[in-house]
Amino acid sequence: MDSKYEVKTPDFSHLTSADFEHVYEPAEDTFLLLDSLQEEASFIQHMKPSVCVEVGCGSGVVITALSKLLNQSALCIATDRNPYAALCTQRTAKQNSCHVEVMNCDLLTPLERRLQGSVDILIFNPPYVVTPSEEIKSNGIEASWAGGADGREVTDRLLPLIPKLLSPQGVMYLIAIRENKPKELMSWISSLGFKSTVVLARRAGPEHLSVLKFYRDSSVR
Ligand SMILES: C[S@@+](CC[C@H](N)C(=O)[O-])C[C@H]1O[C@@H](n2cnc3c(N)ncnc32)[C@H](O)[C@@H]1O
Repeated sequence: MDSKYEVKTPDFSHLTSADFEHVYEPAEDTFLLLDSLQEEASFIQHMKPSVCVEVGCGSGVVITALSKLLNQSALCIATDRNPYAALCTQRTAKQNSCHVEVMNCDLLTPLERRLQGSVDILIFNPPYVVTPSEEIKSNGIEASWAGGADGREVTDRLLPLIPKLLSPQGVMYLIAIRENKPKELMSWISSLGFKSTVVLARRAGPEHLSVLKFYRDSSVR
């Protein structure tokens, strides 16, 4: 499936260094996710998703890129526990003439019931750095990276929800680093009835980043 669509980094020139004291500045992991959307562009467009969700949207460039890829045909929802990130995501969507429904909340807590079985694309670039568990309690910039034990404590709270959240055709894209034990994540997801592949992997300084894709065993890829 070839896609001629080029996933460009949305304009975030409205965000300044003062904003990036409070919200995660797009970095190698963000760009790997954008490159993965390019890799998956044709698949995503053919799927004709109705509902797309990004958890932990930060500056908002990823969900805005997805909204543009779909020519705004899908409902795009973004959440972040950092209120400043929610605000920046709203500004980024507007700057790029897109509409994204943004909520300041923990994971998808207030939306879980309403979204059951309806999420076609779920994206999470979690706080993945190995840190002491106490550090994951912040609602500020620290929430961007503090991942607790194995850098997995936040990811591990979202994964059990995906069988209920994803639609029959639904897929999830998740960033992981080597310390997060991606193979263990893939075998866990397999026990929940999902298959997985690595869309892209790249080394960025000390980080070995990969974008994992999870999809239902029954669906044809
Ligand atoms: C690594 S940053 C990624 C930001 C953006 N998606 C990107 O790719 O540039 C992780 C984001 O997840 C948010 N986050 C961390 N824990 C969260 C939670 N429990 N619920 C919602 N968002 C969370 C952080 O505030 C931060 O904006």
